[in-house]
Parts: sequence; structure tokens; C-alpha cells
Amino acid sequence: MGSTVALLNQKGGVGKTTVTLGLASAAAHAGHRVLVVDLDPQASATWVLGIDPDTVHLSTADVLFHTRAADAIIASPWSESIDVLPGSTDLQSRESGSPSRLRTALADVADRYHALLLDCPPSLGNLTTSGLTAADHAVIVVEPSALGLRGIGAVADLIDDVWDAHNGELELSGVIVNRVPAVSGEADRRTAELARIVGKKAIWKPAIPQRVIFNQAIGERRSIHSFGFRSAEVSYVFDQLWAKMRRTVN
Ligand SMILES: Nc1ncnc2c1ncn2[C@@H]1O[C@H](COP(=O)(O)OP(=O)(O)OP(=O)(O)O)[C@@H](O)[C@H]1O
Ligand SMILES: [Mg+2]
Repeated sequence: MGSTVALLNQKGGVGKTTVTLGLASAAAHAGHRVLVVDLDPQASATWVLGIDPDTVHLSTADVLFHTRAADAIIASPWSESIDVLPGSTDLQSRESGSPSRLRTALADVADRYHALLLDCPPSLGNLTTSGLTAADHAVIVVEPSALGLRGIGAVADLIDDVWDAHNGELELSGVIVNRVPAVSGEADRRTAELARIVGKKAIWKPAIPQRVIFNQAIGERRSIHSFGFRSAEVSYVFDQLWAKMRRTVN
């Protein structure tokens, strides 16, 4: 029975999708099966995973209402080990609905996967609330910058609210630091500040470095592991983060 993990932050562009896809890539590399659940109306994860969101018949938007997850899930061309519950622009109009509906739907398919990774949109609205209600674990993705840390309190508050109102199983299980520049005293100071806010133990190691290969991977709709030696460094980072996730969430 795979654990359900929501990757979130209301701040846009911090790397929620990059981290979700990097973990999926590492899981497949290790021979583990994962489901990527795209909760973002932008449907970036779906598109990068090789599926055109405009052509999908049923999406997460439908599952938030009545559709069974199994009817909407499609295989990613990346790997036999990666399935996708695709996102679509319909999610924009599905900002309402029962928050527990997704939880019920995902529970039906959880035994097929080692983990279910929920790529949340950059907001703390109903879609993210649905994601957190469906999840056993919340992992916050942050950038080590002043603006990157500003919204963390609001994210932690939403996790508490959802735990309180909808999902007593939910835990804040970790914080992943993304886009760490090669040399920067500022980033080091912000990481230290983050440790004071969430506790050192909550910050997963290793942090993810800033590298152009991530932009290339997204542009070419390829997994990070498909670049061979050119991406060996970042593939190894994600292999370690996937191992950490398996230890933490199982
Ligand atoms: N470690 C990194 N190094 C270099 N570029 C990165 C890194 N992480 C993410 N990026 C780039 O930053 C951009 C935003 O990343 P991504 O889409 O993963 O963020 P997001 O948090 O999912 O955004 P949104 O809030 O819109 O969903 C992408 O172009 C991606 O390639
Ligand atoms: Mg995203």
C-alpha cells in the first residue's frame, strides 16, 4: 500500500513540479511504481510526463467529483513504472467539491504503487486542501531565499487546519530545499534560518542544486535519469531523496 505524499508551497516556481518529477524518475530508476497526481490547472507535470493535457479524456478534475481514479489514470511514456492522474484546465473550475473525495478515490488504487506523489498548484486554495486531505504526508518545497521563506508559516498553518478539519493522518514530513546556488552565503544563511523555523531534522538531505539540466529536462519532456552521465549528479541527488522518502513515509 503506497503512501500518499503532497508536495506543496503556495509560492509559484519554487520547484514543486521539478521535485515531484525528479522523485518519480528516481523511483522508476529503482524499480518502484509511482502515481503522479497532477492537481495543477497548468498541468505542467502531465505535459512533462509526455501527455498532452488537451487530449486527456478524464482528469483529476473529474476524480474530484465522481470519476474513479482507475478510469482516469494513464501510463507515462517515461517508464512502465510511472502512471499519471492527469491535470487539466478544468481544475480551475473545480475549486470546490468535497475535500475528502480525492482521498477516497486514491485509496482505491494505492495498493498498486510504492507511493502516490501529489503535485499541488501554487496556492493554498481548495485544490491544495483536497491534496492535503488525500495525503498521509506533506512535503514542502522551498527556495533558500528571503522571499522563498516568507510564506512557510501560511503553508504550515494550512497543514494544521486540514489535520484538524479533514485528515487526522496528515503529517508535515519534511522540507526539500531546491535551487541551491553553487556558492552563496545568502543561501546558507536562509537554510540556517529555515532550520530554526522547521527544525534541522525536518530538512531532507541532500538539497537540490541549481542546474540548467532541469530546464532542459522540462523543455524536452524527459526524465532527469534519461540524460546519463550529463545528469549523473542530480540523478544521484534524487536517488537519495527518494530513499529518504521511502524511509520516512512507509
Ligand atoms: N534546481 C533547479 N535548477 C535550475 N532550474 C530549476 C530548478 N528547479 C526548478 N527549476 C526551474 O524553475 C522553473 C519552475 O520550476 P517548477 O515548474 O518545478 O516550479 P513549480 O513550483 O512547480 O511552479 P508552479 O508554482 O508554477 O507550479 C522551471 O523552469 C524549472 O526548470
Ligand atoms: Mg508546478
